[in-house]
Amino acid sequence: MIQAVFLFPKGFLWGTATAAHQVEGRNENNTWRLWEEEPDRIHNGEKAGLACDWWGGRWREDLDRAAKAGQNAHRLSVEWSRVQPAPDRWDEGALDFYRQILRELVNRGMTPVVTLHHFTDPIWFAEKGGWESDDSPALFSVYANKTVEALKEYCNLWVTINEPNVYVSGGYLGGGFPPGKNNLKTAFGVFANLLRGHASAYRGIHKVQPTARVGVAHHVRGFEPARPWFPADRWIVNVLHANFNNAFPGALQDGRFRFAFRSMSVPEASGAQDFFGLNYYTAEQAAFAPFAKDDFFAKRFFPHGADLSPTGFIANRPDAFYKAMRWAERFKLPIVITENGVEDAQDTLRPRYLLQHVHQVWRALNNSWPIKGYFHWSLIDNFEWERGWGQRFGLWGLDRETRARIHRKSVDLYAAICKENGISSEMTEKYAPEVFSKLFPE
Ligand code: FCB
Repeated sequence: MIQAVFLFPKGFLWGTATAAHQVEGRNENNTWRLWEEEPDRIHNGEKAGLACDWWGGRWREDLDRAAKAGQNAHRLSVEWSRVQPAPDRWDEGALDFYRQILRELVNRGMTPVVTLHHFTDPIWFAEKGGWESDDSPALFSVYANKTVEALKEYCNLWVTINEPNVYVSGGYLGGGFPPGKNNLKTAFGVFANLLRGHASAYRGIHKVQPTARVGVAHHVRGFEPARPWFPADRWIVNVLHANFNNAFPGALQDGRFRFAFRSMSVPEASGAQDFFGLNYYTAEQAAFAPFAKDDFFAKRFFPHGADLSPTGFIANRPDAFYKAMRWAERFKLPIVITENGVEDAQDTLRPRYLLQHVHQVWRALNNSWPIKGYFHWSLIDNFEWERGWGQRFGLWGLDRETRARIHRKSVDLYAAICKENGISSEMTEKYAPEVFSKLFPE
């Protein structure tokens, strides 16, 4: 049997990603807390509640485990509603909380990446109209500057906004996020304000910290024509890709927000990105559906025989991850894989998903594409938004009753990857022999 190691460049960042509302617990002052109180919004009526109790201090043991498991980086987010509980009030204690986490990460030899906005908004901000309001970019930027000023001693890698496309489709195109609207015109306005908010924060952060590297975590989904021979399917795939994947990063390149049927100029966005944050999970097929107006004339699905996660949320498609990196490379920026992972409580799919996706990063690096790090989603099971606690994305599991941390075998696999700085035939044989011949063909 072949014996080989696919090595990564020295200094490659290996980490996991988390987000404030999903792990902290006791977030009382943001839009999701209110959303969770409304009937039928969240799967089984679940709430973030205490979550993983990071606010109560359990971040320390989780990050200890991450460090011991060889991770040299971690991506986390700051909860805006904690730092700025009211428009005219800063909570220095909250900033201290984050400062302490970052300090301890650095002490453990881990590089922090900090996200400033990960889906949640302060209630006061929502009451002012949220991202629909033209004041939102400036309000966000003030918070971003304040936070970076407070944390800059320990971090210079910033993600302003996580997945603007998911935020907009979730909240404004009927996708199950607050504020639960479904209006295309409003959605465009919000998307544009997120872009302006990012651009304004981008410039502000550079003033506060000239060495800062600032980006966005772009959610990129693979879309493929269900019937490749059928022009209408190819056309709808192009429309989906243009609107969902390409519009936001495209505007950060040249200041032009280009959707399939409309475009607008946001000149201040041009060049406002130092690295390309890529969140990739899966790819799906799309068929042109002339009567599906509410679904933007596209029927989307995973094909028969797909290697699906337990709740059918994700199909294991490492080849589409490679394509996503090829597309991201065209933006000519360093790339950080800011999220990638799979929900799998039993941890049967995760080992092969992990190995196959990391293998694609290695292939990408062999083309000299500038991939700088990989952040697995997630360190520990956490609150999965409108899907509640039903999806288990953690390397470590979480017992919801006792809050005990559950060791999954993927912990050891990812530790082996981080420590080896690559993937080996040996670990593949041990953790996912079913894909051995794919990764190490004779
Ligand atoms: C991404 C989100 C992250 C998590 C994963 C599974 O879209 O950024 O918070 O929910 O999906």
